[in-house]
Amino acid sequence: MYKSSFDLAEAVVDVLEERLIKRLSESFPKPLGLATGRTMEPIYQALVARLRSWPKQNLEPLLDGWSSFNLDEYVGLSKGDADSFSAYMNRHLGSPLRLGSDKLLIPDGRSKDPIEEADLYRKHLKSLGGLSIQLLGLGMNGHVGFNEPPCHPDASCRVVDLSSATREQNASSFAGDLGRVPTNAITLGLSEILLAEEVHLIVTGKAKSSVLHSLLNEPASEFLPASWLRQHSNLFLWVDHSALSKVQPNIDLCNNWSS
Ligand code: GLP
Repeated sequence: MYKSSFDLAEAVVDVLEERLIKRLSESFPKPLGLATGRTMEPIYQALVARLRSWPKQNLEPLLDGWSSFNLDEYVGLSKGDADSFSAYMNRHLGSPLRLGSDKLLIPDGRSKDPIEEADLYRKHLKSLGGLSIQLLGLGMNGHVGFNEPPCHPDASCRVVDLSSATREQNASSFAGDLGRVPTNAITLGLSEILLAEEVHLIVTGKAKSSVLHSLLNEPASEFLPASWLRQHSNLFLWVDHSALSKVQPNIDLCNNWSS
């Protein structure tokens, strides 16, 4: 049982480290799929600390060959906006590991044509063969990335309207000012996420307990976008003690259960 999100982060990073070591011997490793949000913060913190302990002869080639695609970005925000996901990634991973924005890819929220930007992002990822590992947090309404309900598993990278529930959930990142939370975002779709070689869904904190219970007990449906992940043959579900407080998991629904 992971008592806290910090214990859980170390366990997730153990797995990530193993996969990153393997990448060093691959000629054309597929890109990593990265997420933002509070859930990911202890993970990036633990990952940075772990990678800094690597010998230089391993760390340098890893960072030189780094290629990651983030899930989503708010329409209207650029990397210069402290509240953008681009700025988040730079704060938590790019700057500490000295990874430039050419390696740490994320949709351009300030593109003049967000629909075209989503299409280009999708095509770019496809040209590289899709994702290796996808890290995911869970929205309170069951979204992953910004795949808001209702959402079908064949949805691809696109511009979406954000639900009021999601904008309220994320208002804390905008100093609690709902009016500042963008109304649209570009997100990878469930189809790109489901094509990743492995998916790690990370759920921490008491506030996620109800949605986690639904995820583990309700049939897959468009009203709970994360429920489509259960059809993935290599899904890892990571939960901490608090997230389990209201849950009676039907473990048969998940092939890799770690709590
Ligand atoms: C956000 C993001 C997701 C994130 C999720 C959970 O809206 N679009 O990528 O994983 O919601 O966020 P948090 O970890 O802050 O609870």
